[in-house]
Amino acid sequence: MAALLHIFSSHTAPAFQNLEKAGIIPKPLKVQATGSFFQVRPNTRITINRDSEGMKGIAGYVAQLLRPATGFDWKIIHQKSASPGNIHLMISNNQPNLGDEGYKLTIARDRVILKANECKGLFRGIQTIRQLFPPEIERKTPQDVSWKLATGTITDYPTYSHRGSMLDVARHFFPVEDVKAYIDWLARYKMNVLHLHLSDDQGWRIEINGWPKLTRIGGSTEVGGGKGGYYTQEEYKEIVRYARERYITVIPEIDMPGHTNAALASYPELNCDGKAPDLYTGTKVGFSSLCTHKEITYRFIEDVISQLSELTPGPYMHIGGDESHATEKQDYITFINRVQDIVTSQGKTLVGWNEIAEAGLNPESVVQLWHGNEQGIQAAENGNQLIMSPSERAYLDMKYDSTTTLGLDWAGYIEVDRAYNWSPETYLPEIGKEDILGVECPLWTETVTNREEMEYLVLPRLLGYAEIGWTPASLQSWEDYKLRLAHHGRRLEEMGVNFYRSDLIPWK
Ligand code: ACM
Repeated sequence: MAALLHIFSSHTAPAFQNLEKAGIIPKPLKVQATGSFFQVRPNTRITINRDSEGMKGIAGYVAQLLRPATGFDWKIIHQKSASPGNIHLMISNNQPNLGDEGYKLTIARDRVILKANECKGLFRGIQTIRQLFPPEIERKTPQDVSWKLATGTITDYPTYSHRGSMLDVARHFFPVEDVKAYIDWLARYKMNVLHLHLSDDQGWRIEINGWPKLTRIGGSTEVGGGKGGYYTQEEYKEIVRYARERYITVIPEIDMPGHTNAALASYPELNCDGKAPDLYTGTKVGFSSLCTHKEITYRFIEDVISQLSELTPGPYMHIGGDESHATEKQDYITFINRVQDIVTSQGKTLVGWNEIAEAGLNPESVVQLWHGNEQGIQAAENGNQLIMSPSERAYLDMKYDSTTTLGLDWAGYIEVDRAYNWSPETYLPEIGKEDILGVECPLWTETVTNREEMEYLVLPRLLGYAEIGWTPASLQSWEDYKLRLAHHGRRLEEMGVNFYRSDLIPWK
C-alpha cells in the first residue's frame, strides 16, 4: 500500500515535486520520483565523507555555485554519514555499475545523498542537482525563491567515455576567460573533453620555448586581420588546471602538415624553398604545407610536441592532418608516421582527423571522423578507435538555417533537430559502438569573433551533443528532448546567454 501511495503521489504532485518531470539534460539513465520535496534552508550544509583534496574541491565548487542566488552560507563539513537537513557527498567504492563517472542521487524529504565511486562521478552528479534547483539559481545575486528539490532517486552513468567539443582559437583568438566559459558549458552538461585547435593558417596560439617567432609573428593576426593573440605557457596551464578541476581533459591540437601558414610565415626554414610566405587572414584551406623533407621540420615538431606533452596531463596529442592538399600523398604518409613516433615517444596517444587513416596507423592511434566516411571505415578496420564528429551533423559552426547570419553552410544547415537526431553507432553501418571512443562537436571560428557569437552557435546545440554522448540511444527521443529543452530555456535565460531560440522548440 505504501508503494502504491508513492506511485500515486508522484503522478499527482505539482511539477516541481515530480523528479520525473525535472527535464534534466542529458537525460539520466534511471529516475524514480517519490512525489515530495527537500527544502533547502539557510543552514543547509554540504557534508563530505572524506577530508580529501578532491572532495573539498568539489564541495567548494558546489558552494560557489549555490551561494550567489540563495544568499546562504553553504558551510562545508567533514562527517562520515548523511544528516538531516543537509546535502551529503560521499565516495563509496562499491558500485561497479556506476563506473568512474556515474553517480547515485537520493533526494529524501529530510536529506540529499550523492554517492559515487570517484570524485569525477560526484562532479557529474552535482550538475544534475544544479538543474533540480529552480532556474533562478543561475542568478548572481540573492533571489527571493523557495529552494525546493523534488524527491526520488537517480542512477546515472555515461554511454561513451569521451564526450567533448573542439574550440578553434586559431581562426579567431579567444582569451583565457572565454575558454573558461566554454569549459563551464561543457561541465554543465557532463562533457569531459575540451579539444583546443591551437594552430592554423591564420594563427599560432601557444608559446613554444626556443621558437619565439611562432607567437610574435604567427600569433599576431587572425581571420579578417584583427590583432590575434596567443596563450603563454602559464596561461595554457591555467586553462588545463581549470578544466581539470571540472574533470575535463584538454586535448591540444597542432594541425600539420597542412593548415600551417602561420608557422611557415614565422620561420622561413620550415618552407621547402626557404622563403616565408605572408601572414594569411582569409578563410581558404589546403594551400600550406610544412616541408616534409627537411630535418628541421621534425626538430620543430619534437620541440612543440614535447613541450605541449609536458604541459598537458591528458593522454592525447592531436596532430590535425586534415586537408593537406599541398603535400604529396607519399610525403604525407611518411610524415604522419614520423610524427606518430614523436607523439608516442612522449607517452601520448596520437589523434588526428580522418585523413590520417591513409597513413597506415598504429592501432592505438585515434581517428576523428569529420568528412570522409571511407577513411573512418578504414580506421575501424585497422583497429583504431573513432571520435565521431561528422560535419553534416556535429559541426557547431554550421548555420541553423538559411536566415542565420553567423556560421558556414558547406556541410548543410544544422537545425536543433538535425543536430540531435542521429546516433554515432548507427551513423555508418560499418562502424559499431565498439569502434567508437565517443563524440565531439567542433566549433570552427572563421565567422565567430566574440563570446556572444560563440554562445549563439553553441547553445543550444551543445546540449544535444552532450545527450548523444551521455544517454543510451534507446532513451533518446526528439519529442521528449524538445520538451526538456523548452523547459531548460528558462535556465538559459537566467544565465543571460545569447542562445538560439529555434522555432522548433516550444520555449516556455
Ligand atoms: C576540418 O573541418 N577540416 C577537420
